[in-house]
Amino acid sequence: MTIREIIRMGHPTLRQVALPLSTDEIQSETTERLVEDMIDTLKSSGGIGIAAPQINESVRLAIIEITQTGSRYGELEPLPLTVFVNPVITVLEETMAGSWEGCLSIPGLRGWVERSQKILVEYLDLELNNHKRVFSDFHATVCQHEFDHLDGHLYVDHVQDMRNLVFESEMTHLLHSD
Ligand code: NI
Repeated sequence: MTIREIIRMGHPTLRQVALPLSTDEIQSETTERLVEDMIDTLKSSGGIGIAAPQINESVRLAIIEITQTGSRYGELEPLPLTVFVNPVITVLEETMAGSWEGCLSIPGLRGWVERSQKILVEYLDLELNNHKRVFSDFHATVCQHEFDHLDGHLYVDHVQDMRNLVFESEMTHLLHSD
């Protein structure tokens, strides 16, 4: 079990376009260990998703695990631990919705970001199975946030009104409705 250091906004790796994993790399012990480290790091952080670049590994790999309670995002529809290798998003509906996003690489802050609410995600798992899955609502938001990391984007890039970039500890003052 290895909890890795999560790099923060300002570290150049977070702004790089990460490299896709080849089939050999996906089945390698290196990737297996990397995924284990990502799981350990995610679980110890209290987050709901982490992308490999956040632990300074510039490859197209992200994991998401949403449990119903106990997250800082309130009550959510659960999503069992899922490993996404080389994910590609296709937007299915233009409908957007906003939420207060946070990021393990930007601790203490939240920003109001609008994202597409219905997307198709094509990805591989660690056994090289191809998946095509539709994600809606908050799950669609989380996928877009995590996979953005693979292209060197952070949620703050999508905050349209900088007055909506706030410290989490001040959020009790906000009565934002979407
Ligand atoms: Ni993030």
